[in-house]
Amino acid sequence: MKKWIAFLMTAMMVAAAMACAPASDSSSKAEESSAAQESSAVEESAASEESSVSENEGASEFTTATEGVLTMATNAEFPPYEYYEGDTVTGIDVEIAQAIADKLGLTLQVEDMEFDSVISAVKGGKADIGMAGMTVTDERLEEVNFTESYATGVQVIIVTEDSDITSADDLFAEGANHTIGVQLTTTGDIYTTEDIEAAGLGTIDRYNKGADAVMALKNGKVDCVVIDNEPAKAFVAANEGLKILETEYVTEDYAIAVSKDNDALHAAVDAALQELIADGTVQSIIDKYITAE
Ligand code: ARG
Repeated sequence: MKKWIAFLMTAMMVAAAMACAPASDSSSKAEESSAAQESSAVEESAASEESSVSENEGASEFTTATEGVLTMATNAEFPPYEYYEGDTVTGIDVEIAQAIADKLGLTLQVEDMEFDSVISAVKGGKADIGMAGMTVTDERLEEVNFTESYATGVQVIIVTEDSDITSADDLFAEGANHTIGVQLTTTGDIYTTEDIEAAGLGTIDRYNKGADAVMALKNGKVDCVVIDNEPAKAFVAANEGLKILETEYVTEDYAIAVSKDNDALHAAVDAALQELIADGTVQSIIDKYITAE
C-alpha cells in the first residue's frame, strides 16, 4: 500500500469523527487555513540541480512575496497531489514546487488554505504560485496566468457499490434527480452545476473537502461524488463499499497559477517547470505517487 493511503485512512477516520456538514454551513476550515505549513519535509525531494533558469535567454529578474522564498498556495486535501503526512504537507505538487524552488535558488514555503482561496492568494500577491491539482479554465485565466501543464486530470464519478447510477449519462437522463457531492469551487462543482443544476435535474451539495463529500456518500447524504480521478482512487481505497464508474466525465490539464502582475516570475517558473518536464524529473515525481495501470 502506498504510504499516503495509510495517512489518508487516518485522515478519513478523523473526518468521519467530525460532523461532515456541507461547506455552506461549516466554518471548521478556518483554523486550518491560517496554519501555514513549512515544507521542511520535502527537503529530501527532487535533487537540486544546477540552476540554469536565471541564465536563460529572456529570463529577467523576478520578485517573490518574501525575498528568497517561493510561497506556494495550496489546499492539502487532494492526495496524491497535496495532503498531510503528520503535520507536513507533501505530494506531487509539493515535490515539483520544491524542484522549481531549487532551480530558482529559493526556499519553498507551503501555505495550506481553502481551495477557494488559492487563486485570490496568488492574485493578491500573498502567494507566488498556486499549485493544487488546479485545472486551467477560461474563468481562471481571467484572474491569473498559468504555466505549461504538468499533469492531466479526469473528473470521475464515485458511487456506492450498489448504486443504480452506472454512467455520467444517468445523471443527465430525463427525470434524473440525484444529489451530487463536490468540493466547493472545483471544476467538479463548476461542471456539474452547469450540466445538472442548470437543467433542473438534481442538487449539488458542496463540501469544503473532497473527503467530506465522500463521507456524505458513505452516509447516504449524496448519491455520487464528482472529483478528480487520482484523489478519487485514494478515497475509494480508503473507504469500503465505494467504486469509481468507468465513464469519464471531463478531462483537464493541471498547471501552476502565477499572478498576472508578475510576468518575470511567471517566465522563470514556467522555464523551470519546462526544464523539469524535459529532463524527466516531473514524470519521476508523478511515478513515485501514481502507479500506471
Ligand atoms: N482539478 C480541480 C480544479 O482545479 C480540483 C482541484 C482541487 N484541488 C485541491 N487541492 N483541493 O478545480
